[in-house]
Amino acid sequence: MLPGPIIEQLIDIVGESRLLLGDDDLQRFGIDRTTLWKAAPCAVVLPGSTAEVQAIVRLANQCNLAIVPSGGRTGLSGGAVAKDGELVVALDRINQVIEFNPMDRSVTVGAGMITAKLQEFAEQQGLFYPVDFASSGSSQIGGNIATNAGGIKVIKYGMTRSWVAGLKVINGAGDILELNKGLAKNNTGYDLRHLFIGSEGTLGLICEATIQLARPPVEPCVMVLGVQDFAAIMDVLKCFSADLDLTAFEFFSQQALDKVTAHRGHAAPFETQTPFYALLEFEKTNDAVLDKAMALFEVCVDNGWVLDGVLSQSLTQAQNLWKLREDISETLWHWQPYKNDISVRISRMPDFIKEVDQLVARQYPDFEIVWYGHIGDGNLHLNILKPEALSVDQFHAKCVNVSSEIGQLLAKYEGSVSAEHGVGLLKKDYLHYSRSAVEMDLMRSIKRAFDPNHIMNPGKLFD
Ligand code: MLT
Ligand code: ZN
Repeated sequence: MLPGPIIEQLIDIVGESRLLLGDDDLQRFGIDRTTLWKAAPCAVVLPGSTAEVQAIVRLANQCNLAIVPSGGRTGLSGGAVAKDGELVVALDRINQVIEFNPMDRSVTVGAGMITAKLQEFAEQQGLFYPVDFASSGSSQIGGNIATNAGGIKVIKYGMTRSWVAGLKVINGAGDILELNKGLAKNNTGYDLRHLFIGSEGTLGLICEATIQLARPPVEPCVMVLGVQDFAAIMDVLKCFSADLDLTAFEFFSQQALDKVTAHRGHAAPFETQTPFYALLEFEKTNDAVLDKAMALFEVCVDNGWVLDGVLSQSLTQAQNLWKLREDISETLWHWQPYKNDISVRISRMPDFIKEVDQLVARQYPDFEIVWYGHIGDGNLHLNILKPEALSVDQFHAKCVNVSSEIGQLLAKYEGSVSAEHGVGLLKKDYLHYSRSAVEMDLMRSIKRAFDPNHIMNPGKLFD
């Protein structure tokens, strides 16, 4: 419960209607997509400008009030969960296009802009914002930057980091920082912009971002291939990526396809059922590309890696094939899955897959496991579905044990315990499998430098 004088000062900053204290609002704004924690913020504020964000952070420092920054609340690691009486600062209202510069091919937007709106804006200018994922209709650009979101086109376009040319932030001490100012070249010491990208709200609040835009892609073609086993997916990837400039290479299991077709009403790509499916995308830059893709398909069939396949004949068909992959995550919420979002270098993937497959078969004999992910960039999503008979807490306790073993395996393969979803609350106990003790100490020192009173998203990323 916030003391009356703090409530009054917050109202002075944002106005009465922008301070939310009702239970429904606290529940809505105090959580992300995770279901393991209960929202319990003391209040929610909706600032309308960077100046208001700064005033809130200064007040929070005076009153020793912890802040949880909140974007589109689509996070999957508990990074935006306010479970301990924190003040939620939601950026929803700072969502405008601030400046578009066609010469620089960049746009400066408020952090609360919905990702899909940024994509639409770019398209209206004849340009392209290439970071894309299933939650782009509700996630916000500030949240994407805070978690360095990845998604389905990373093999061609990289992560969110690659597209951030500048940031305006308020650090934990309440200072405004304008980082990199849209420059393409700027070798003037440490690039603090990059510290904020992926910092999960632990250093401060991102208020505005200058985003680099790309030239639009040529017509996308999508192939879905029925693959005979896990190992063959890597053979298919090697075969196609050697000769085609792929924009995406995703995979999913038959279980994932079964759930998406049953729950979303999508048609299966073809009649043959195979243990795994690869979805790959490339641009139809000329007709020879299609011939090349068909020739590669034949090679994969001749080698016994691929048992069936389909190539999109129209944009609509390409979009429908994408739905088979993109709708998996939303479909699985029904089973309250425990999510693993892990990565290793592509070259180590064949051996890693074998070991992780054996590990989960051994440790989760009674659980339903659904595999999918961005295998073209080394990122696997391993989702363990909650059996109805177990409570959320019982289920989580079982998953935690296995996560430690997966962590050890990742350490052996020099992989990451969080490829693209961030660490938040869910993965912080496993961070040490991917980052050394010295790195963790340095991260803590960096946090102290930006957030001396430890008010920014405490307990996220590390304790
Ligand atoms: C995806 O690849 O679909 C997203 O990262 C979400 C998820 O893993 O559930
Ligand atoms: Zn993903």
